[in-house]
Amino acid sequence: MSLEEEIAKRRTFGIISHPDAGKTTLTEKLLLLGGAIQKAGAVKSSKIKDHARSDWMEIEKQRGISVATSVMGFNYKNVKINLLDTPGHQDFAEDTYRTLTAVDSVIMVIDCVKGVEIQTEKLMEVCRMRNTPVICFINKLDRQGRDPFELLDEIEEKLAIKVRPLSWPISMGKTFKGVYSLYEKSLHLFTASKITVEEGIEINDINDPVMESYVGENNARQLRADVELIEGVYPDFDANEYLDGKVAPVFFGSAVNNFGVKELLDTFIRIAPPPIARETTVRLIHPAESRFSGFVFKIHANMDPKHRNRIAFLRICSGKFERGSNYFHVRHNKSVRFSNATAFMAQDRETVDEAWPGDIVGIYDTGNLKIGDTLTEGEKVMYTGIPSFSPEIFKEVINQDAMKTKQLEKGLLQLMEEGVAQLFTYQLGKKKVVGVVGALQFEVIQFRLKNEYGATVEFASQPIYKACWISSKDPKKLAEFIDSKQRHIARDKDDKLVFMAESRAWLQMVQDNFPDISFHFTSEFKD
Ligand code: G4P
Repeated sequence: MSLEEEIAKRRTFGIISHPDAGKTTLTEKLLLLGGAIQKAGAVKSSKIKDHARSDWMEIEKQRGISVATSVMGFNYKNVKINLLDTPGHQDFAEDTYRTLTAVDSVIMVIDCVKGVEIQTEKLMEVCRMRNTPVICFINKLDRQGRDPFELLDEIEEKLAIKVRPLSWPISMGKTFKGVYSLYEKSLHLFTASKITVEEGIEINDINDPVMESYVGENNARQLRADVELIEGVYPDFDANEYLDGKVAPVFFGSAVNNFGVKELLDTFIRIAPPPIARETTVRLIHPAESRFSGFVFKIHANMDPKHRNRIAFLRICSGKFERGSNYFHVRHNKSVRFSNATAFMAQDRETVDEAWPGDIVGIYDTGNLKIGDTLTEGEKVMYTGIPSFSPEIFKEVINQDAMKTKQLEKGLLQLMEEGVAQLFTYQLGKKKVVGVVGALQFEVIQFRLKNEYGATVEFASQPIYKACWISSKDPKKLAEFIDSKQRHIARDKDDKLVFMAESRAWLQMVQDNFPDISFHFTSEFKD
């Protein structure tokens, strides 16, 4: 098969949702449809349940599971699908943000009872940064949820994206009858089944009285009224608008009952984008270019603390990856050989000899790679669009054992390279502040520093609202700003300048007082 054909048959995506909306369940049903697993219950949730908050063995175990299910590759109707899993626990949201840099599209799961929840809003913000195409799956129709029109309005409003329903529910909850596919003009009657998939019944004319015989008079009337309203209010579905991230097609179903999942997947493989060109520091690189390139978007520490090797997840962006070849490590400016690359197929890991754009390979690494690193066949370019996001909670690292200072420094550096948290080092006094998205990360860091590096730390809370990466077109103005705010200036892991804002109101005031300085909540920005 040619490079172009390999690219055309790949779909690399992630499923995003607020915890409990049904991501794990949907993942499992997709794998069942793809024949990658044989029975329901095989996919373990990678989420760390609340009761396990301080149960370290549980967290370690979960970390193991999440490596195994980090990337699930499977074939469906001759399409190679790479599903990138994202941690369900919101304390690990930063991991999810980064994984979203490696996908070409997402499926967003929304609980029809709860509607758009906070985590979905945050994840959507990340998708919007790259105009990632989004398909929406409104789940749990077997429960009495909110009015579907109201849900669509809420998505448009809270997620700032236009929607276009492609299927429509007929009743809900106990009286749920099924969905009508507006796209295929077919009726799918609901059966609560965990595995079987019913084929749709073709009904070309929604006014056909046969409708009544399937769903009853009232439901048929309601459906016709709803469809008329939909056709009147929403413009026709435009696949290009979807690909530009401007409109999200919406499906309704019930993942646990395997209902609506096949239609979702069938539409997904038809409309979701194959790997497309990606931006680098120098130029746009097209996947069909013959020379290999890719970037690291995730690093996972090995479970065994005695061996510090880690798995780096590499997203292939162009050309063909071949195991055993030498590739150019752009940041280190040297050639490296990867003889033990691993592919991910469903829940297994197997050695991979070659991989194509859109594929993810796992590379065993002893500390050479970090998140954002680019590998090429020699060209000095770095993939962009893999930013750090401002953390939400900040604490100062306090070393409790002066004899282990070196170990602490090394441990912190490595954990930060894995992306467990972000380290900000103040210019004055070299104070070290760790920033995270969720409080659980502090416990993980403390535990791992002790367990893997023998270093003991405590954390002291810091009154910081946001880390803002700063820039200015006028170097003199920037220098003046740094001078006047010395106590609040730190450097991130890449030595970039960061202003540590103590509160929203104070940040606003500083912004007003220094109009020539730009404040950014992510480490990558355009001035
Ligand atoms: P998550 O990964 O997004 O966090 O959600 P997950 O799939 O774990 O689903 C959360 C809960 O919602 C699970 O119940 C799951 O069975 C249920 N669920 C998923 N899809 C549907 C659906 O279509 N209808 C209904 N009624 N429920 C659904 P749980 O009680 O937390 O776990 P379990 O004991 O059922 O596994």
